[in-house]
Amino acid sequence: KAPQREVFVSRSAFIFAAIGSAVGLGNIWRFPYVTYDNGGGAFIIPYLVALLTAGIPLLFFYYAMGHRSRGSAPLAYRMVHKSAEPIGWFATGIAIVIGIYYAAIMAWAGSYMIFSLNEAWGDDAEGFFFGEYLKMGDPGISFEFVPAVLIPVIIVWILVLGILLLGVQKGIARFSKIFIPLLIVLFLALVVRSLFLPGAAEGLNALFTPDFAALADPGVWIAAYGQIFFSLSIAFGIMITYASYLKKKTNLTGAGLVVGFSNSAFEILAGIGIFAALGFMAAAQGVEVADVATDGIGLAFVGFPALISEMPGGPIFGFVFFACLVFAGLTSMISIVQVPVQALREKFGVGNKSSTLFVGGGMAVISILLMPTVTGLYALDTMDAWANNIGIVGSAVLAIVSVGWLLRKLPMFSRHLNAVSSFKLGITWMILISITGVVLVYMLITQIITFITEGYEGYPGLITGTFGWGMIGVLIVAAVVLSLIRWPKTTLAEMDAAI
Ligand code: PHE
Ligand code: NA
Repeated sequence: KAPQREVFVSRSAFIFAAIGSAVGLGNIWRFPYVTYDNGGGAFIIPYLVALLTAGIPLLFFYYAMGHRSRGSAPLAYRMVHKSAEPIGWFATGIAIVIGIYYAAIMAWAGSYMIFSLNEAWGDDAEGFFFGEYLKMGDPGISFEFVPAVLIPVIIVWILVLGILLLGVQKGIARFSKIFIPLLIVLFLALVVRSLFLPGAAEGLNALFTPDFAALADPGVWIAAYGQIFFSLSIAFGIMITYASYLKKKTNLTGAGLVVGFSNSAFEILAGIGIFAALGFMAAAQGVEVADVATDGIGLAFVGFPALISEMPGGPIFGFVFFACLVFAGLTSMISIVQVPVQALREKFGVGNKSSTLFVGGGMAVISILLMPTVTGLYALDTMDAWANNIGIVGSAVLAIVSVGWLLRKLPMFSRHLNAVSSFKLGITWMILISITGVVLVYMLITQIITFITEGYEGYPGLITGTFGWGMIGVLIVAAVVLSLIRWPKTTLAEMDAAI
């Protein structure tokens, strides 16, 4: 007989775990540069529209799905309709891919905590990161190892698997309850410190000065939806999995509102802190904020080191900043690994610990072999682009089209949520989900065409073919194959008992 399903002992345990998943690298380094690139202050409008009309409604949708079925993503889809199961496996596959590279970004942040103490990058932060630390060469396939990255990646996996082995309540919930408050305190201290740096106001002006013309650009709206989805950890299977551990009588929509607004509050706080700091750096170098606001990975691992070298008390500031990235990343990382752990546990009727060791261990091995190599960064960047722009959007499209449009389960979902929740859903919610479906179909098609016609970052076809299209193809095939395997009787009995 399979062991009993695990539970969150309280709603606050769930809320902390869900905020832990939501607040991650996406809030600290992704949101600020996405906002800056997409119209600055004016981006807040599409961002809020995406949050209120798509993000929070979908959060409710996935909570309903996980809570009513009490199952992992594939099982929850199967409970809606037998033929929908592959969608759940596809979302699970995306979680696996993201977990594999997310570990590497966390490992870099861990290394940079230490590097900050003696400003190891000297006066060339960029050369240090790409050349000395990552040992990047030309984009191609090479599996030469980079030991400086290998060791932190291994440490990250040991931590993640260690927490997950403790279980849903004693591991996931307890660590989120420790790390999230710690993160908020440390991060607030950084933001306040940044606001007192000379030049901070210029940075905030650069971030918040609205460029209203940007609102006419569909790309800006796509970026807003993309940010909201990534940031709320929607469509990776995470919210289905976490909601499945909740007790029957739980105020789900109330929890969703808390999680959704906390995540955005943290995000906007991060935008303020980071741009205040960039304003200082621009002032110190006598240049425009635009010249120091680089994108993505560069912002955290190239821009910040340069900043740390420039400011008084920089080493401490840097240590705390990278510690925040590690804490934020860790609670997100455990949420993502739990998705395949739960799914395979149910599909093969094994125990929690064996599933964690087998699935998490498998992901760790791939991550450890692939990420710390000379090819690792190109693989990472490509996997990130495809997983987010095709994988997550595709997963959400499949969910809305199948469950909402074809099977028409939204009324049933809203009845389920309303029976236990304080904030009641009605026809508005169903309309919002349906409209979101249309927006997402448009986004997906636009993105596929762009990748086909323009490629990505000029990377060779071997890279985008393997880690982009190939990866998506493997996930689709695996999703179909796994759906053909029968569910063990023990799992189904457990489900019937739960409903
Ligand atoms: N919500 C996370 C963030 O903002 C995204 C994420 C969650 C990514 C879990 C990976 C795993 O960073
Ligand atoms: Na987030």
